Amino acid sequence: MNQALKSDPSFDPHFLQSVTEGLGWAEKCLSSRYFYDDRGSELFAQIMKLPEYYLTRSEMQIFTEQSNLICQSLDIKADKLEVVELGAGDGSKTQHLLKQLLKSDAQITYRPIDISSGALSSLKQQMHTALPDLTIQILCGDYFEKLEQLQETVQQKLVLFIGSNLGNLDDTQAKSFIQRLSNTLNPGDYLMLGLDMIKPEQIVLPAYSDAAGITAEFNLNLLRRINRELDANFDLGSFKHVAEYQESEGFARSYLQSLKHQTVTLGASGDQFTFQQGEKIHTEISRKYSDELLAELIQGCQLTLERKFTDTKGYFADYLLQKS
Ligand code: AVI
Repeated sequence: MNQALKSDPSFDPHFLQSVTEGLGWAEKCLSSRYFYDDRGSELFAQIMKLPEYYLTRSEMQIFTEQSNLICQSLDIKADKLEVVELGAGDGSKTQHLLKQLLKSDAQITYRPIDISSGALSSLKQQMHTALPDLTIQILCGDYFEKLEQLQETVQQKLVLFIGSNLGNLDDTQAKSFIQRLSNTLNPGDYLMLGLDMIKPEQIVLPAYSDAAGITAEFNLNLLRRINRELDANFDLGSFKHVAEYQESEGFARSYLQSLKHQTVTLGASGDQFTFQQGEKIHTEISRKYSDELLAELIQGCQLTLERKFTDTKGYFADYLLQKS
């Protein structure tokens, strides 16, 4: 272990462990959760504006055009509702829903939860400018820890987990995430789950292999982060981004493919990893859903499907679920 690195306050031992484990497997992989350093977040913001990346635009259409319907579908008890959002984002979709909710007689409190305090502060500022009458309380930390604290207040909640964020988990992880999430809800609470729907390859694949190469840059940035934070010597020019998708399966998968036989050293641990020419590192899954897969996902979680909202093309769905 490199001692100088270890004493750096920004050193993350979980990142090192995740990278050494993932690159040590016969089928190498890296976790997509580490995409989002400053540069990665910037690149993801660019991805959301790409013509090929239909997800953000489709879900935005649901929120701009159907927020009144979403509000009408909620049975708000005691004229009070806490809107809890997991993963702050820029709140631009949520803003439409909150605007509608503020028109009702109910007292609305917005509580975004995120691990990044910087993202939360700028979200609070933007929301306050757009909706000055809204009560906002930002919660910085782990989703489940914060949800468990909120559970004790017994205030009715609408939890938002939108943006297809669940799609970056495999089916086993997604199931246990939803089960854990449901356990933090009280009867009558709502969950709004934003999922990308299974659709043909000609639509999905370009969203993960755009012509401008932003997604490729986003994927390769993970190697740049490993070089910087874990003192590795990945040559970014010797790897290329590859995206795969099969409609029958419903998973978009991203890889970094080695363009030659090469050995990379991870200074932080002293490990060396050899890559064959053409060998791929799996970096991300982006699960696409169907109504059947949603039903399987929530089975046994005490969640009932209340209503499904889709964009006009049926590309994306926001499912409104209620805890029984
Ligand atoms: C954050 N997440 C839902 C995005 C997705 O579509 O899986 C991340 C992303 N990866 C490549 N492009 C966008």
